[in-house]
Amino acid sequence: MKRKQLVVGNWKMNGSLSDNEALLDGLTRADGLSTLDVAVCVPYIYLAQAQERLGSGSVSWGVQNVSEYDAGAYTGEISVTMLADFQVSYGLVGHSERRSLYAESNELAGIKARKLLGVDITPIVCVGETFEQREAEQTFEIISAQLEAVIEQIGLENLGRIVLAYEPVWAIGTGLTASPAQAQEVHGYIREQVALLDKVAAGAVRILYGGSVKPDNAEKLFRQVDVDGGLIGGASLNLIDFLTICRLAT
Ligand code: PGA
Repeated sequence: MKRKQLVVGNWKMNGSLSDNEALLDGLTRADGLSTLDVAVCVPYIYLAQAQERLGSGSVSWGVQNVSEYDAGAYTGEISVTMLADFQVSYGLVGHSERRSLYAESNELAGIKARKLLGVDITPIVCVGETFEQREAEQTFEIISAQLEAVIEQIGLENLGRIVLAYEPVWAIGTGLTASPAQAQEVHGYIREQVALLDKVAAGAVRILYGGSVKPDNAEKLFRQVDVDGGLIGGASLNLIDFLTICRLAT
């Protein structure tokens, strides 16, 4: 049997109070979402709005980043305890844009995942290779290193408490998508790596696919045995597209 599917929208640095209102209210009113888990990762500044608008429904909310520090003189940063005040369910860590634009390391992704777990927020740990790394046949090696660094921080006992997301960097925001077979190959590999450490966690852990998922390619991706849903960027900003993708995951 397939694991319960999870579809997560990653709004990135997009939105406005009025645009969000339409999107969030549309999600709250939508039907057909009861058999899967759905969440949106919003910019921090809209967390209160997400909590207010989604609070009564089945869609959860999350964040796209978090500080690795607890409190103090870290201008511009947001801590995990602040997130807990807003009933945040999920936090992205290690997104490729954080890695490439803000020089975040594998280790930092792991530390952030550990911090989130400390306040019972589920980390969505993003892994994936660049185009050059794929061409050089380093995909598995890169992903193993990204995974290992996170597991080292969170500890084996917490493997069952995270969500993984395979996001080939070359497919993010580019309109290029991994083929269903390419996605399955890497998802299968990731699950095997987890199984080497913990068979039960490997059976349970959800591995999302991300990278230019759209209504017209989602179904085939979601049908792969080791694809347990999606992490959706651009298409999550359009209510109809996002809902279509969510329904295709059921
Ligand atoms: P995309 O983004 O769907 O716009 O490619 C996915 C992501 O970065 O999480």
